[in-house]
Amino acid sequence: MKRIAVGSAAVRWGLGAAVCVLALAGVSSLTLHARQARTVADGVYSAAQAQRGAALYKAQCVACHGEKLEGLVGPMLAGPDFVTVWGGRPVAELVDKIQKTMPLQAPGSLSQEQSIDIAAYMLQVSNFKAGQGALGAGQLAQVTFPAARAAAAPAAGTVNVPPVANLAQYMRGVTFPNANIIFNTQLKDPGTMKPQNPVPFDYPLWGNTVYYGWQTTDQAALALIETTPLFLMPGRRCENGKPVPIQNADYQKFTQDLITLSREIYKTVQTRNQDAVAALSERLNDTCANCHKVYRDVGTAEGGGLGTDRCKS
Ligand code: HEC
Ligand code: HEC
Repeated sequence: MKRIAVGSAAVRWGLGAAVCVLALAGVSSLTLHARQARTVADGVYSAAQAQRGAALYKAQCVACHGEKLEGLVGPMLAGPDFVTVWGGRPVAELVDKIQKTMPLQAPGSLSQEQSIDIAAYMLQVSNFKAGQGALGAGQLAQVTFPAARAAAAPAAGTVNVPPVANLAQYMRGVTFPNANIIFNTQLKDPGTMKPQNPVPFDYPLWGNTVYYGWQTTDQAALALIETTPLFLMPGRRCENGKPVPIQNADYQKFTQDLITLSREIYKTVQTRNQDAVAALSERLNDTCANCHKVYRDVGTAEGGGLGTDRCKS
């Protein structure tokens, strides 16, 4: 299977972290013997670094991550919850995350040195003390966050994987594309959709020549049935760092409503009746919106866009 190296933001957000981890794994295996593993609690950065980082943070990050790094439209960048999320991971991953993806509106604009300075400032705000020496690029892979508490052993027949995506990333990557396939029945009869000829040289488009027409619609309905329960997965955060409100009865009901409707959609898709599926897709839209009205489209930040009140319980 070839790796699909498309450059769209959505794809990059999905794959970026995994690719970084792979790259780092190679580096650390070469240098592990040379240096002893340390944690961020061992005085790994200098006060001067943190001071430079603070200035950069105030200029470029504060609007989204808050005066105290407590999180606004982006997640918190300091404190116990932040340290838990990063538990056991090397600082190199954090520096990469900053350098390659932040600030959100201008990713790639910071140098590695600047990204390290900001990481040092973040460590300082989390009460990890400064040391004598500066944190250098060559040490990033060996310095880790203190290990998080081990998760409980999984019950038989289950897998125990912590969520990686925030809820917005999950919606964009999983729920949205599948729902759009269902919504498309309002415009097109899947029964008349045939693969393009010649076959387009673009993996997503090529994929549509392998599974197409009503089969795509079957798959989308099945995917919504199977993946919507993950809205209730423990440990997932929203984009602003707040935990997904899985304990709230209305949030649980909105999730259940989507599963129930997706089952009905799947049954109707089996009739291959475009009008019937299109009618249900209107209800699909409402089912998404019912939850969004309460938990997503609330308290948007100045200038619109991401909401600081999202996912409030
Ligand atoms: C326009 C808003 C915005 C700005 C400005 C911004 N961020 Fe972010 N940041 C976000 C959002 C939204 C996320 C969550 C999505 C993601 O992880 O990519 C995020 C995630 C992060 C994360 C991942 C945190 C975690 O625990 O997963 C780090 C680290 C981070 N930002 C650092 C920075 C730094 C450093 C700056 C300034 C150089 C910055 N951000 C500027 C919006 C912003
Ligand atoms: C149980 C509640 C719930 C249901 C049902 C739900 N969503 Fe969401 N959705 C959310 C929340 C909350 C967010 C914001 C998450 C965040 O900020 O991390 C969100 C975010 C999104 C986003 C990302 C918006 C952005 O900021 O870029 C998309 C796209 C999306 N949802 C699509 C859908 C579609 C399509 C459906 C129905 C098929 C759906 N959602 C059903 C709660 C829900």
